[in-house]
Amino acid sequence: MNESNKKPASGSTTGAGAPAQSDRNSLTVGPNGPILLHDVHFLEQMAHFNREKVPERQPHAKGAGAFGEFETTEDVSAYTKAAVFQKGCKTEMLARFSTVAGEAGSPDTWRDVRGFSLKFYTDEGNYDLVGNNTPVFFVRDPMKFPHFIRSQKRLPDSGLRDNHMQWDFWTSNPETAHQVTYLMGERGLPRTWRHMNGYGSHTYMWINAAGEKFWVKYHFHTNQGMAFFSNAEAAAMAGKDADFHRRDLFDAIARGEHPSWVMSVQIMPYADAGKYRFNPFDLTKTWSHKDYPLIKVGTMTLNRNPENFFAQIEQAAFSPGNVVPGIGLSPDKMLLGRAFAYNDAQRNRIGTNFHQLPVNRPKVPVNTYMFDGQMAYEHSGNAPVYAPNSAGRDWADSTGKMDDGWETDGDMVRQAYTLHAEDDDFGQPGTLVRDVFNDDQRNKLIEQVAGSLLGGVRSPVLERAFDYWKRIDADVGRRIEEKVRAGNAAEPVAGEGEA
Ligand code: HEM
Repeated sequence: MNESNKKPASGSTTGAGAPAQSDRNSLTVGPNGPILLHDVHFLEQMAHFNREKVPERQPHAKGAGAFGEFETTEDVSAYTKAAVFQKGCKTEMLARFSTVAGEAGSPDTWRDVRGFSLKFYTDEGNYDLVGNNTPVFFVRDPMKFPHFIRSQKRLPDSGLRDNHMQWDFWTSNPETAHQVTYLMGERGLPRTWRHMNGYGSHTYMWINAAGEKFWVKYHFHTNQGMAFFSNAEAAAMAGKDADFHRRDLFDAIARGEHPSWVMSVQIMPYADAGKYRFNPFDLTKTWSHKDYPLIKVGTMTLNRNPENFFAQIEQAAFSPGNVVPGIGLSPDKMLLGRAFAYNDAQRNRIGTNFHQLPVNRPKVPVNTYMFDGQMAYEHSGNAPVYAPNSAGRDWADSTGKMDDGWETDGDMVRQAYTLHAEDDDFGQPGTLVRDVFNDDQRNKLIEQVAGSLLGGVRSPVLERAFDYWKRIDADVGRRIEEKVRAGNAAEPVAGEGEA
């Protein structure tokens, strides 16, 4: 036997801290004999290895991230009292970027929306902003979310990705048109995570010190400039380096190149919501920058790589429900659905006490009335476990009108949002392809959509897709149909099925 490695001076230990006898030979009766149950160290190694993975995130499984700092450089105290957004405040933070549909080992450069998750460790508790690299989303009711995600993942029989299933879902749900236009355009293939913008996407509420409320949308513009891959570059990179985006971020930070983004907000006065031409809580819509111009807030810089991927990235738990005083949710049904979904996913994925892990633990003292459970580590000794109590342990007791609430009434219904003057599913994507995209971007979009449809999309979904694009823009739709009928679009990108 060739055992070239020399035994180190001081050995390893068991999980219980006692010296381990060997990390390379199990205990046997004679060199060729059976392994003994006495070899507790061996049994522990086997048993722990069987448990060293946690389930991957249901969507957004493939990703990575880094720590950094957010500095508020402007005075936006007229709109929010949140400590994190007071001029001069510097806050430690964590960012995680991801693809949506791919599994934990899938290529970073497959066409997809990219996740843009931020955790601010503020003086008032953790504030999480869990957004994407696009300002809108595919659906506007959370009831549709599991259906949407399943349609982007894999077929139940073959376990393959399937363009037909994706287009079947999109064309059956016309509110997807705006986000699908972004996805099929350049934003579906960011060159690196450093070269993409981020968006809170939803409308949130900001509340100032006087109690005045505003509706707010977040924008993070990359200081590295936007850059994209072509289909061919992305496909080649998927084969060459499936972890290209993860590697790019880690290596850049290790080299001392710290990527940064400017955070700006659009602010809508509270009373405008009812009369704006688009429903401001509809996640498939943007607000015109002419109507609500960008207001700069500060800069986020990522400057520290994780020391351990599993502990600090895989176990990181972001939730849109984590807000702090001065920031609230809004009547966006998607946002309200998300406010429940994330912590529940994390209780399942990481464990009941995921809050207590160092990466998720707030930097401020915690006085929670959630106790015990698997792997409980922090505790409050013998302090009362009930509220109210007469032993002096603080408890919360806000009553009446909430600072971050809004007025609502009506019958309980299952119904779409009421429409505002210009609400329709195809108007904003039409503006995007006609007025925002240039000729080159439009041509690439047409090429990409035709390639995707040629990748296995069958009747009647194919005809629905032509109609979908004609409703976005008659000319773009006609050109897509012509290309598909002629069968001459560019090769579908890697990861998309062949007919
Ligand atoms: C991850 C649910 C919509 C962005 C997740 C996870 C769940 C989830 C369960 C995994 C969380 C974990 O295991 O830690 C939902 C539901 C939605 C929704 C139910 C709609 C009702 C959205 C929207 C966005 C978004 C609209 C962006 C605007 C993300 C991101 C992650 C994620 C970036 C990755 C978080 C991370 O980096 O750890 N989502 N999601 N999701 N979602 Fe959503």
